[in-house]
Amino acid sequence: MADRLFQLSNHLTPPADLTRIDGQVVLITGAAQGIGRAAAELLASRGAKIAINDLDEKKANVAVKELQAAGYDAFCYCGDVLDVEFPPRLIKVVIERFGRINILINNAGFLNDAAIHKMTEEKFDIVMKIHNYTPFRMIRALANHWMDPANRTMTKTVINVSSTSGLHGAMGQINYATAKAGIIGLTKTVAAEWGRYGVRCNAAAYGWIDTRMTKPPNPDEKLVVGGQEMISGIPLNAKKWRDTSDIAVGRPGTVEDAAGVMLFLASPLSGCSSAVIDGGS
Ligand SMILES: NC(=O)c1ccc[n+]([C@@H]2O[C@H](COP(=O)([O-])OP(=O)(O)OC[C@H]3O[C@@H](n4cnc5c(N)ncnc54)[C@H](O)[C@@H]3O)[C@@H](O)[C@H]2O)c1
Repeated sequence: MADRLFQLSNHLTPPADLTRIDGQVVLITGAAQGIGRAAAELLASRGAKIAINDLDEKKANVAVKELQAAGYDAFCYCGDVLDVEFPPRLIKVVIERFGRINILINNAGFLNDAAIHKMTEEKFDIVMKIHNYTPFRMIRALANHWMDPANRTMTKTVINVSSTSGLHGAMGQINYATAKAGIIGLTKTVAAEWGRYGVRCNAAAYGWIDTRMTKPPNPDEKLVVGGQEMISGIPLNAKKWRDTSDIAVGRPGTVEDAAGVMLFLASPLSGCSSAVIDGGS
């Protein structure tokens, strides 16, 4: 038996490295730091060309310089993805630069937490906009490019970012939990409607990942979007939030953990999947 297995394995050619995405053009919103930046670095290391967007021009430029210094093909186009006119412009600029877009990662986001009775229309609205309207507008702006018969066979993949807050609800996050549940319906609809054009659409529903968003609020790092200052970060005394006992592996995820899920969804490893996956922690 052992001999037979040995003979068989001698005849098997080594499988292609399915984690390689050589030459694929990846556009990541909100990629100056956190999960988006880690994904940019990991996907670049697997052969992708990277287009970064962020509000924070300074950090985005640092991220791009480091990618370029490592020998990767990367550039950034900064601006506010919440602005209705910005998504089509961003898509156009990336296609002009790299000739196509293969993978869109709708990652830009923020919190603006408040208890239900203190949640204002403005806070609710802006969080719905960044996590639902913006991904919708980004995807719609790709319609002509991705439905073009000339691009029938190229890789076309969307990765949206949901959250366990959207799957299970979360204290103080009535706006964010609603929006992160909404992105799941959006994801499944894109998969259903555009599968025939060869488009895959997935969402990763992360739990607690250690980034600026979940660190204690830092008064020196104010996030102002559309003239509104966000309530960013999770206070250290938010006991429900800081409890790791209900996390299966007993620790928050790292940005590298989160980026690994994105590589899986971007690569041929998930070549037939259109789904929502639990991104861990
Ligand atoms: N950290 C977590 O625990 C966690 C869990 C689940 C889901 N998520 C989601 O992951 C994504 C990334 O979050 P993160 O934790 O890396 O946060 P982060 O704050 O580290 O990074 C978010 C980035 O998005 C950018 N951004 C925000 N608004 C923007 C806008 N209007 N236009 C352009 N860029 C904008 C910010 O400048 C920032 O660089 C978000 O969608 C978030 O909701 C995070």
